[in-house]
Amino acid sequence: MTTIPKSFLLGAATAAYQIEGAVTEDGRGPSIWDVFSHENGRTQGGDNGDIACDHYHLYPEDIRIMKQIGLDAYRFSIAWPRLFPNGSGGLNEAGLDFYRRLIEGLREAGIKPVATLYHWDLPQALMHQGGWTNRETAYRFAEYAHTVFTRLGDDIPMYITLNEPWCSAVLGHLLGEHAPGLHDLGATIAASHHLLLGHGLALEAFRGEHLKDARIGMTNVLTHNIPASGSEADLQAVDKADAVFNRWFLDPLFRGSYPQLQQAFGIASAVKSGDLELISQPVDFLGVNYYNTNIVSANPADPLLGVTLEQPGTARTEMDWGIAPEGLHKVLSRLHQDYTKVPIYITENGAAFADEVVNGTVSDKHRMDYIHAHLEQVLRAREEGVDVRGYFVWSLLDNFEWAFGYSKRFGLVYVDYATQQRIWKQSAKWYQEVIHKRQL
Ligand code: NOJ
Repeated sequence: MTTIPKSFLLGAATAAYQIEGAVTEDGRGPSIWDVFSHENGRTQGGDNGDIACDHYHLYPEDIRIMKQIGLDAYRFSIAWPRLFPNGSGGLNEAGLDFYRRLIEGLREAGIKPVATLYHWDLPQALMHQGGWTNRETAYRFAEYAHTVFTRLGDDIPMYITLNEPWCSAVLGHLLGEHAPGLHDLGATIAASHHLLLGHGLALEAFRGEHLKDARIGMTNVLTHNIPASGSEADLQAVDKADAVFNRWFLDPLFRGSYPQLQQAFGIASAVKSGDLELISQPVDFLGVNYYNTNIVSANPADPLLGVTLEQPGTARTEMDWGIAPEGLHKVLSRLHQDYTKVPIYITENGAAFADEVVNGTVSDKHRMDYIHAHLEQVLRAREEGVDVRGYFVWSLLDNFEWAFGYSKRFGLVYVDYATQQRIWKQSAKWYQEVIHKRQL
């Protein structure tokens, strides 16, 4: 039995495009994901976020569920195109009102709101000007963020500038799996820097507001990488994997520099004087999303990095991701040792499984075991002195899993998309008990 301190936040997370739906309502403009998901062959089954979980209308019910589970905190994202349908210019008050209502509902339910400002839904209008490959987008992002700070201020105690900029840059601009669907290394490198610059500029705007209680940080997805053998080639391969998956966004944030690998890919051409100082201004906390551990070996046949990745063990989630909870402990210890002593929050961790409703309930013991094992590793790191202060399950609800559409279910709560009925999974009841007893 492990006791979970009262001050440690137990929460759940979602993101705007994945749950809200209502994509044309109250003046919302299109985002790159609206466009991308409507293009042929981009998502499984041609799925899109037009309706999703209809959270835009059903949010009071969703807050009731969160309250019943007993969540300490709820991480959601604000859709930039609801506030600025054209990416910039005049604020769409109706869009902002939705988040006001949401925050008010959370406050009444005693749930701490944690808001991500960018969870991948770039206004399409900015894409017409090059999106994140255009340096100007970083300035538009900071303007949008500044508006949120001035209008919502301390009503949001925790702001996250970017969610997983690695995915925005690499899945969106190199692998073509996410919006905007490009296959262009130069665009990827430029986008990665401009995302970070947007973070730095937003941080500067945030500090300028001198809010009393609100804190700000960024969320990165991090992996633990193990060399397949002790050979020189595999050791070099694991170093490359680490530079790509972890150091790319951690080094500029905490050390004010890019790893050699990104320099070899020409990142200097995007960096202007002063950028790295802006990017490496101190954050109040770091958000960590953890899903994967990789076993890394050298593979000269691999065109880009010369590296092959395998997942350890045999257990797999529906995403075909290996289940490696110890990797989360390793990631946390490493952050503490090599990078930062700021508070850390696990802003996402969770798993998709092939859930089925049988007699009105979903037996998802796999998910319970998954969360249990990962949370245990987080608490272990905490006992060892890593300042980790919270854990958010991905996700509160089944939702639109990007290129996988609705085929992958990550929720504690099952969503019947035909009726929008919410059905508690066994894992939600289990999490409720964990939160209630504060014991694992
Ligand atoms: C990371 C992303 O932030 C989230 O949007 C996604 O659904 C989960 N991982 C699962 O892939």
